[in-house]
Amino acid sequence: MTTAQEALESIEREALDRLATLSTTAGLEGWLTEFLGRERGRVTQALKLIPTLPPEARKPYGGAVNRLKVALEAAHAERGGVLRAAETAARIEAEALDVSMPSIGRSMGHAHVLSQVRDELVALFKSLGYGLAEGPEVEDAWHNFSALNTPEDHPARDPKDTFYLPDGRLLRTQTSSVQIRHMAAGKPPFRIIAPGRVYRRDAVTPRHYPMFHQLEGLHVAEGITFAHLKGVLQAFAEGVFGSGTPMRLRPSFFPFTEPSAEMDVRCVFCEGAGCRICSHTGWLEILGCGMVDPAVLEAVGIDSERYSGFAFGLGVERIAMLRHRIPDIRLLWENDARFLAQF
Ligand code: DAH
Repeated sequence: MTTAQEALESIEREALDRLATLSTTAGLEGWLTEFLGRERGRVTQALKLIPTLPPEARKPYGGAVNRLKVALEAAHAERGGVLRAAETAARIEAEALDVSMPSIGRSMGHAHVLSQVRDELVALFKSLGYGLAEGPEVEDAWHNFSALNTPEDHPARDPKDTFYLPDGRLLRTQTSSVQIRHMAAGKPPFRIIAPGRVYRRDAVTPRHYPMFHQLEGLHVAEGITFAHLKGVLQAFAEGVFGSGTPMRLRPSFFPFTEPSAEMDVRCVFCEGAGCRICSHTGWLEILGCGMVDPAVLEAVGIDSERYSGFAFGLGVERIAMLRHRIPDIRLLWENDARFLAQF
């Protein structure tokens, strides 16, 4: 055997040994350049030896170099296949997801405490036979004041207290406006509640906010008396503050009711003994109410000789604050998740 052929065999051995020790596809490129590179690869170098050989040795040697080249190319392709398969398998293994693993707990959102209380009140009055009514938050002075028997010079109409739009309309100051809309649009009997936002030009304090929520109630039919009102309010007080909760009605005044009253429930904090929250009276003021003033019925074209009714209006924030002992109305608007998550 010639030295040239021995050299070929040692190239082959070395190439195959090195290929076998490669553990990643990253090494394949270097191996290819070293052994099969077009310019300086070891096989190319071996070909360049041909002119230095005796003529009769050139042909067999050339054939041997070509076989080596083909063999190394095949070995490269095979090793590449093995390494790529191993790397793919390793990646699949590393990226595998265990779909049976328990998930990281997610906190679910829920309705705002005010929405919860409103929904509860709506459900309570629905169970007493009341339907839902709605009206616009941008209202006109007739629905918000005039039809509700509110005199032209009444202080509530003052721009110091009410938000007016440039066109003379206003942001409703009370959901009582929905009574008017509802009655003007239909025929008695009426038995509705109207929850919604109202606006007043109040300074922000722990108990006042310029936007808040009311829930209005109205029941107009033949033969409705103050006793019906009292029965409904008793059911409401017990539904919201617990059965047996004592309530009382105090005479009051509203332009749209005659007679008018305010309802108190016995203080749920001190049970009547007197505490800071009830200003040591033992009672909490909950809502305004009364018998719908005949002037209001006539304003919407209802015969006040034939029909009578009662109405009431309450503040949703106030109920929520009493129910959950929320000390400051501003907490309801700050949207601090730590606060809201408690309800
Ligand atoms: N609208 C009154 C207010 O905003 C609340 C009210 C009182 C509503 C008496 C009524 C009622 O329907 O009869 O303070």
